[in-house]
Amino acid sequence: MKWHKIKVTQDITKPFITKEKIGGKSLCIVGFENKLYAVSAKCPHAGADLSEGLCVRKLIVCPYHRYTYDLETGKGGEGQHDFIETYPVEIRDDGVYIGVNSVWDKLKLGFK
Ligand code: FES
Repeated sequence: MKWHKIKVTQDITKPFITKEKIGGKSLCIVGFENKLYAVSAKCPHAGADLSEGLCVRKLIVCPYHRYTYDLETGKGGEGQHDFIETYPVEIRDDGVYIGVNSVWDKLKLGFK
């Protein structure tokens, strides 16, 4: 897994969603209740940009058809049968880091 340092300028005490290109992937960086989350920016239902959605009770809500995804697990709401990828976030002394697995990392994990 490679860790990518990002710049967070928003106040994390207030909800926000931004979109960042990290490790070749489009991710939503979400601040909610003093925590940071990183999730895939593409809705698996019909491809909407989740960064244009909103955040409600630790869920990201898609702007198109209002599907919801848990910010911690990526699991879709009841009856959706889908999920979004989640990425680890670490707040270190020198900044915020997002962990992204490469295709090679995923292959290695698949053989464990
Ligand atoms: S595109 Fe996201 S819910 Fe349909």
